Parts: sequence; structure tokens; C-alpha cells
Amino acid sequence: MAKMWAGRTDGAVSKEADDFNSSIHFDSRMFRQDIRGSMAHATMLAACGILTDAERDTILDGLSDILSDLESGKLPIDPAAEDIHMFVEAELTARIGDIGKKLHTARSRNDQVALDIRLYLRDEIAELRSLVRDLIRVLCEQAEKNANAIMPGYTHLQRAQPITLAHHLLAYAMMLERDDERLADTAKRMNRSPLGACALAGTTYPIDRSMTARALGFDAPTENSLDSVSDRDFCVELLSAISLCMTHLSRFSEEIILWSSWEFRFLELDDAYTTGSSIMPQKKNSDMAELVRGKTGRVFGDLVAMLTVLKGLPLAYNKDMQEDKEAVFDAVDTLKKCLRVFIPMMETAKFRKDVMYAAAQKGFLNATDLADYLVRQGLPFRSAYKMVGSLVARCIAEGKTLETLTLDEYREVSPLFEADLYDEISLETCVAKRISAGGTGPDSVAAQIASVKRFLESGL
Ligand code: ARG
Repeated sequence: MAKMWAGRTDGAVSKEADDFNSSIHFDSRMFRQDIRGSMAHATMLAACGILTDAERDTILDGLSDILSDLESGKLPIDPAAEDIHMFVEAELTARIGDIGKKLHTARSRNDQVALDIRLYLRDEIAELRSLVRDLIRVLCEQAEKNANAIMPGYTHLQRAQPITLAHHLLAYAMMLERDDERLADTAKRMNRSPLGACALAGTTYPIDRSMTARALGFDAPTENSLDSVSDRDFCVELLSAISLCMTHLSRFSEEIILWSSWEFRFLELDDAYTTGSSIMPQKKNSDMAELVRGKTGRVFGDLVAMLTVLKGLPLAYNKDMQEDKEAVFDAVDTLKKCLRVFIPMMETAKFRKDVMYAAAQKGFLNATDLADYLVRQGLPFRSAYKMVGSLVARCIAEGKTLETLTLDEYREVSPLFEADLYDEISLETCVAKRISAGGTGPDSVAAQIASVKRFLESGL
């Protein structure tokens, strides 16, 4: 196909170079945004006297026909086209003739692609945010259902202190709230229109950049034409927001995988979100969680790829920047796919409260509370800590727990122990007494649930 830019050269690019140069197979997904941007541009050109109203109408009709033919599949994307921008423009000219050639007045593909990708990502961010919020909602519902379910809380993956399952799940809700805020913040900062920056230096035509910015739902036009066409900060910001969200899903996945094992048995995933083994009949594997954990690696790769593409680029546009799209699209697609299985997987997950409770009974999770008991009897904390440490050592040696040591055995260590100690070290008391704000106590967990609900109600 003759190149639209043939002129200085004859445009006869070798087949290899042509394929290498083409981005149509990944940028054609922006056809709606490309056409929408062109419509706003043509409308503005007419308003500024650069096109006649009749020319504008011919262009708008042509573009809207192309849009519906692309939507319906009647018009296939030509895989030989250089990119989506060239494809739409060539199709327009094929349909309406020479007037189509006027569309690119006071515009360059450099500001065009910068515009299209912002429009595209703006829509994708809205979708990502609604999925993140769906997951927060599911976690909040599970937290409400499991407000009293006691489980071991861990540090170093060693049993540490008793907590509730609700408290544990809400920790993930908090991470996801921050993810949602980061996505919103990224969308807000990128909501400036680069259209009219043209190739790099602006244009000699009397265009109205505010008009196109407004028409396309941007807060304002960008301020420096060189920056407008070479800025992909918003891609980096989005990739890092997505990477961090994937990190959260990956940590959660790790726990889901551990909890689904026979070693823990805290969790039973619904069959719909597990797989079997081709050889071992007893297996029920948490493949979805493993894949989420695995895909986190590729998303980090996308972020590093984008940063690396940008780091040595002189101003303004360089073709290297065509590499932005595959990285950012891959990350967006991956997070969407992950969330779409994660949400129902968590919605249908069955938590084995009995197993969790039994696990919390082993491992001396109430040792801190026993030390606190002695502190209340007047002992300095560090001395109480030592005393309880020796009692734990004795229990381990004799195969006992702090609950099964007799009062006499306690009194051998200190006369400060009274019969009320047993109430003080019950798991229920240990949880109920964690009254500090943000702790695992019931009032704090109820406050967290209320706060998450307020967040969800606050809207997008
Ligand atoms: N396909 C190109 C991209 O994605 C469009 C911009 C091309 N501009 C240029 N001057 N070659 O970046």
C-alpha cells in the first residue's frame, strides 16, 4: 500500500521494516477514541474557520459511518495499515474523497496518539476502579459474616496473637481502598488534552485547544507542546498503581494458597475456582490464586519496560514511544482478568472457622495477654514477659498449654497468679480486649466495616 507520508521518500518500505514499524495489531483497539478525537478536532476546525461547515459535516458523517461499520464488524481492520490513525484517515478519504485529506490540518499523529491513549486509559481506569470496589464490597461482606471468627494472627508466619478473620480480611480492603485512590489520582492528573500540540511545536493555524479539551471531557489543555507529545508519565503512574494492586492480590493469593493446603485447612475454595491434577486424584489446586501471583511478575515487567523505554528519550516524540501501548494494555488487561476471577472466588470461598479456632488454641497466642495480666498485678512488663516465657517453655517440654497449667503450677512461678487468669487468657478475652483504635477488638472491627461501607458509598 502506498504510504500516506510518501513524499521525501518513495515510501517503498521493505516488508520486514513495514511489519516492524506497524502498530495496528495492538493500537486498533483505540478506534473509538481515535474517531471521537477526530470528530472533536474537525468540529473545532470549522468553529475556527479552518474548515467550512459543509466540509465538517462531510467529515463527521464519514467518521460516524466508519465507527458504526467498525462496531458492527462490517469494516475489518486492515492488518497492513501502519496504525489505527492512518487506517481511519485512509478509510475516510476512500469514502469521502479529498475532503478527508483536510482532517489532519493542524494536527499530527504525535498529538493524536497522545490523545487517543489518554482517552482509552481514562475509560479503562473507570472499569478497573469499579472492579476494585467490587472486591472491596465482597471482602466487607465476608468480614461482616466472620466478625466473631477467631483465627491466629501471624508475624514471621509464626502464630502470634489471636485476631478475627474479619480483621484480617479488612486489612486487604484497606489496601484496595488505596489502590482505588491511586487509580483515581492517576486519572485525574492525566485528564489534560494534548490535542493541538501537533508534531512538537504547536501550529500556525488559529485553533482553539480549549474547545477540543472541553468536548472530549478533559479538565484543560496541556500547557507545553513538547511535553504534550512526549509525556507518558501517566502510563508509568498507571502501571505502578496496577503493579501495587497486583502486589496486594498476590499477597492475598499467597495466603489463599497456604490456607487451602492440608497444613492449614482454613479455607475451602469453591470447586468453580480450583482445578484438579491429571494424575493425582485427591488434588484440589488453587490455580487461580497461583496465576494471580504469577501474573504479578509480568505486570512488574510491563512497568519496568515502560520506565526503560522513557529513560533515554530526548524531546519530543520518538518512535520508541509506540512501545508504551503493549505494556500498558497488557497490565490493564491482566489486572481486569485477575479481578474478574478473584471477586467471585472470594465471594464463594468457605472459611473453616472451626479449624481456624483450633489453630488459635495452639501456639501460645495468649502469652502476651498473660504477661499483660501480670502487669496489671503490678509486675513491670519486662519481668512479666520473662516469667511467661519460662511458663511457655515448661508447657512445650510437658506437652501442655497455658490454659491447662494448674493454678498451683502457676503459683510455683509467682504468687501474683489468681484463678481469674484463665478468663483473661481465653481467646475471646484476648480479642475483646484489643480495644485500641484499629485493633482486632469487636468495636474497632465494626468501625472498620462502617468506614469501608462509607468508602464504597462515596462513589467513583
Ligand atoms: N503508531 C504511532 C505510535 O503509537 C503513532 C505516532 C506516530 N508518529 C510518528 N511521527 N511516526 O506512537
